[in-house]
Amino acid sequence: MDEILKVSNLKTVFYDNSREVHAVNDVSFSIREGETFGLIGESGCGKSATCRSIIGLLKENGKITEGEILYKGKNLVKMSRKELEKIRGHEIGMIFQEPMTTLNPVVKIETQITECLPKTMSRADKKKRAEELLKMVGIADAGQRLSAYSYELSGGMRQRVMIAIALAAGPRLLLADEPTTALDVTIQDQILKLLMDLKQELKMSMILVTHDLGVASQTCDRIAVMYAGKIVEMSDVHALFLNPCHPYTRGLLESIPTISKKGSRLIPIEGMPPNLKKLPEGCAFAPRCRFCRSICLQQEPQLQEVETGHFSRCHFRGEPEGEK
Ligand SMILES: Nc1ncnc2c1ncn2[C@@H]1O[C@H](COP(=O)(O)OP(=O)(O)OP(=O)(O)O)[C@@H](O)[C@H]1O
Ligand SMILES: [Mg+2]
Repeated sequence: MDEILKVSNLKTVFYDNSREVHAVNDVSFSIREGETFGLIGESGCGKSATCRSIIGLLKENGKITEGEILYKGKNLVKMSRKELEKIRGHEIGMIFQEPMTTLNPVVKIETQITECLPKTMSRADKKKRAEELLKMVGIADAGQRLSAYSYELSGGMRQRVMIAIALAAGPRLLLADEPTTALDVTIQDQILKLLMDLKQELKMSMILVTHDLGVASQTCDRIAVMYAGKIVEMSDVHALFLNPCHPYTRGLLESIPTISKKGSRLIPIEGMPPNLKKLPEGCAFAPRCRFCRSICLQQEPQLQEVETGHFSRCHFRGEPEGEK
């Protein structure tokens, strides 16, 4: 399979009251055509910042300071705003965590969809396509809904509209940043199923950010576990769940009884993630790690390949000689 996206040594910093927040800190991964790549990890570990860096939609105080993001071989980091705008929405679509803040409340749904369609299309064709898109995401009375405003729709419906907008220009890569968190549990399943069906039907690649390990285990081909702005473990989904190597991943998995069950959300491990403005010298997880040794507090571990295609960022490859 060919790679559609290759992220290398990505560093993204937010400037907060003249202090640097190292939100994405030397992240590398690649995504193959048709693959679903999961990003998991506690709140604040840099999942959204990674997605937003890829699509060039960082908040004003955020900046990519190092690294490369190759989309079909072209470096998005070096692109002009205009070039990037052509790719954003057209080649790469994104669904955000909170649909209410992304949809414009004073613009009709129809306009919000048609704005994402090629400028060369006629008005009538755009309207037809907008209606098709709403049907595709399972909105029954699509024709009528076109003239609605987002506040008139339910949460699930809004997220369907968000998906329609993200898919309007036929992207090849979809970034779905916790696409179901803002929704009721019953609706979450429907939206996720819709997303996975559409991904299959349209043969897209996808990054799925999720807090739900059950969802990740059922939908992703490969998974990266992030901690404090870094990938601490990455592998295909089976190896990750069968043989988690990093103590952080182990902690996450141990805290839930049946991993294959949807709704298996991350339960916090004791302690707090480090302050991203002032990272510790050694392993960022060391202060919370039950296997921590002196080397862990002094030296930062590198991501090592523990078995083919399975990487872990731990001095002990996740197999220290026992708990401290
Ligand atoms: N605009 C900003 N200014 C300053 N710091 C920011 C900004 N946006 C994000 N951060 C910080 O960057 C880090 C990574 O944030 P990010 O939103 O990527 O986390 P996340 O993994 O998506 O978390 P969640 O699961 O809660 O969505 C966090 O420490 C966050 O506080
Ligand atoms: Mg986020």
